[in-house]
Amino acid sequence: MTNRLFRLQEKGVWHLPFGMDADALIGEYEVAGQGQVFRFFSELAGAEQAALLEQAVGIDLGEVARLSCDWQDGGIGDEDYSSLQPAPYKLHPSSGGDASQWAFASQIGGAALRAGRVAAFTVAGGQGTRLGYDGPKGTFPATPVKQKPLFQLFAEKIRATGERFGQCIDWLIMTSAQNDADTQAFFESNDYFGLESEQVHFFMQGLMPAVDDSGKILMAGKGLIAMSPDGHGGSLRALVRSGHVKRLQAKGVDTISYFQVDNPLVYCIDPVFIGFHLQERAEISSKMVPKAYAGEKVGHFCLRADGRQVVTEYSDLPQELQEKRDPETGDLYFLAGSIAIHVLDLEFVARVGGVEASVLTLPFHFAHKKVPCIDAEGKPVQLTEPNGIKFEMFIFDSLLLAERSLIVETRREDEFSPIKNAIGQDSAESSKRDQSAQALRWLAAAGETVRGIKTVETSPLFAQTETEFVKQWQSLNPKPDLMDGMYLSENVKNLKETS
Ligand code: UD1
Repeated sequence: MTNRLFRLQEKGVWHLPFGMDADALIGEYEVAGQGQVFRFFSELAGAEQAALLEQAVGIDLGEVARLSCDWQDGGIGDEDYSSLQPAPYKLHPSSGGDASQWAFASQIGGAALRAGRVAAFTVAGGQGTRLGYDGPKGTFPATPVKQKPLFQLFAEKIRATGERFGQCIDWLIMTSAQNDADTQAFFESNDYFGLESEQVHFFMQGLMPAVDDSGKILMAGKGLIAMSPDGHGGSLRALVRSGHVKRLQAKGVDTISYFQVDNPLVYCIDPVFIGFHLQERAEISSKMVPKAYAGEKVGHFCLRADGRQVVTEYSDLPQELQEKRDPETGDLYFLAGSIAIHVLDLEFVARVGGVEASVLTLPFHFAHKKVPCIDAEGKPVQLTEPNGIKFEMFIFDSLLLAERSLIVETRREDEFSPIKNAIGQDSAESSKRDQSAQALRWLAAAGETVRGIKTVETSPLFAQTETEFVKQWQSLNPKPDLMDGMYLSENVKNLKETS
């Protein structure tokens, strides 16, 4: 059902799509036991009524009822964890993988990029609650010297890859109702960070209503249903619904490089990873790093008894399994941590995210949260404990629906240092330190002595990998003096920050 109503009022009746009128819609809610949604309808002004109807018409009441039953039956957490095995993955050359395979994959991925078959995709609909930052997370200053916002960093990486392969690479950014306007305004006021405005495409993810323990839809106000984003898994539906899948297919794109908004080290479009994905004809490919410690808050790549790969979240995998060790190597048994970087086949996205995909949809997960709402008198409820259930889909659950999938190892120091928390682990401070450490490793690989230097930043337009960096650095004549606070830009200007 579409979210857009025909805003026509004839003889006091709101006309909804498919010939449905407001009375019929309200009747449907009553039959479904959700009459409370329209409890205050007659008190609302015309525009508020229209807004409520517009929200209500977009909700699939059957889906809500099904999910509420699942929640009451204990959710989808009945996984037999004891039968899980570690999922196999392709070893990185630094862990003993075959470097010639990596070189070959790079050629395949490079050819696909040159042919314009690849688009980049960022999920940026989250609220960044843990970071405590007021604004879209992509606007957060993330780099050690220039304090570039995450979106700028990704834009430069996409631009650098586009220039390398001679393509204007499309960048899809999924926002949510909460941050869409701010995100778009940020790009506009920053001139799309050097990208063409036509290559950046924003679309909003879907929303799901929150329900109480008995499955009743909660109301945030008299004319407002309590809705929340449907999780990054909702991106598959949203990609199809927004028309981007069709648009991309028409221009010859068949592969999507997916990453989260929170990781400054991500190699947004990695030719090697894309090459492996294409070689294996995978529908979804994933990058992993060995977990840093048993309790690290990442998903675990596991293999189910039926041979399917799954990601089991840190919050779901029992602690003894998170801590279990391989008796021979002493390594963590479930070593492969998900860093939420994937390559997706566009046909697969169309299949799983399509409206007709009733059997093939992702499962919903349940989060028991405090959901601000009103009571039967229309007064705000004082919340002392979780009162509602939010429904979210996770992108990695699409592994369960894929005919072929692949997991590839990468090095944590090359590609994973997310900004999730305000302080401590996975904070801006730890990520900036890791970004500097990467630049210093690259300088050392180019033969420089970097003793005493702590903070360095490299623009993606200067280099995106160690190999690129060494080549670039060696071509500089004269070379800049090495110093703390140095910034290597596209054309090696402004090497020292003054502020
Ligand atoms: C996530 C993964 C975890 C992985 C880790 C790596 C989940 C449930 N877990 O954890 O397996 O190891 O990242 O860093 O995702 N987002 C949306 N819309 C939403 C919800 C989230 O676009 O409705 C986006 C966020 O903007 C962010 C990303 O999804 O870019 C991750 O969301 P978050 O909830 O922060 O996941 P984590 O718990 O950090």
